[in-house]
Amino acid sequence: MGVSVVVASGKGGVGKTSVVAGLSSCLAALGCKTVCVDGDAGLRNLDLALGLQEQAVFDFNDVLLGRAALKDALVSRPDIPKLQLLAAPAHTPASAIDRTAFSALIATLAESNDFVLVDCTAGLDTGFALAAGACTGAIVVTTPNQMALRDSARCAERLADHEPAKLIVNRVQPRLVRLRHAFNIDEAMDTVGLPLLGIVPEDEMVSAAQNHNIPLVLAGRKGAGSALCNIAERMMGRECPIPRRLREWKVEG
Ligand SMILES: Nc1ncnc2c1ncn2[C@@H]1O[C@H](COP(=O)(O)OP(=O)(O)O)[C@@H](O)[C@H]1O
Ligand SMILES: [Mg+2]
Repeated sequence: MGVSVVVASGKGGVGKTSVVAGLSSCLAALGCKTVCVDGDAGLRNLDLALGLQEQAVFDFNDVLLGRAALKDALVSRPDIPKLQLLAAPAHTPASAIDRTAFSALIATLAESNDFVLVDCTAGLDTGFALAAGACTGAIVVTTPNQMALRDSARCAERLADHEPAKLIVNRVQPRLVRLRHAFNIDEAMDTVGLPLLGIVPEDEMVSAAQNHNIPLVLAGRKGAGSALCNIAERMMGRECPIPRRLREWKVEG
């Protein structure tokens, strides 16, 4: 029996989809059977981040409505065989999805996998309720700026009934933290009110890999790719301290 984890933020554009694509690839590359589910009904793009847009013919709503078998809707890449993607419907909004059936589907996936990561929509409305309501665990992704942090705090409050949610601070730029143009990690944790799962640096390879439809983990274990693999190791229960260089970002410069 594996775990189901919603990856949420409140605010859009902070890197939820990038984190789900990167983390799920790393978990699979490290040997865990992993499914990532695009919970962004109507605005999907996890398939693009994983280079699976051609393969993702069916989506989770096709499975819920009996138009496709689950095994046909789960797609994978030959170079990361332990990773499977279940795409979101491209044109059906979250409000039209049967929440009970979606939760049952996520529970079924968790039974036969080590990790099920659900990429959440922005906002705290219907799409959030759909994804969060289906998962037992939660990760809140934020960038270290005031607006994202405040939205993440609201999001964290809404996840209080989950297994203790954890925080990923994404797109951290030490230079901006030192200049006090961005919040440091302690301030981010205090504002959101969650313990830290990991820090992901700003890294141009994130969008470069996405534009080439290559999972970040295949582009090498450095920068954001390395940070996400370290986070994956922590999720697997391994000791993986945040590297000193990143830890020092916690200290005001
Ligand atoms: N660590 C990072 N470094 C650089 N760019 C990033 C990073 N994380 C995300 N991005 C970029 O930020 C944009 C928004 O990311 P996305 O994952 O789509 O956010 P969300 O799913 O929260 O809306 C994308 O263009 C993505 O390439
Ligand atoms: Mg997204």
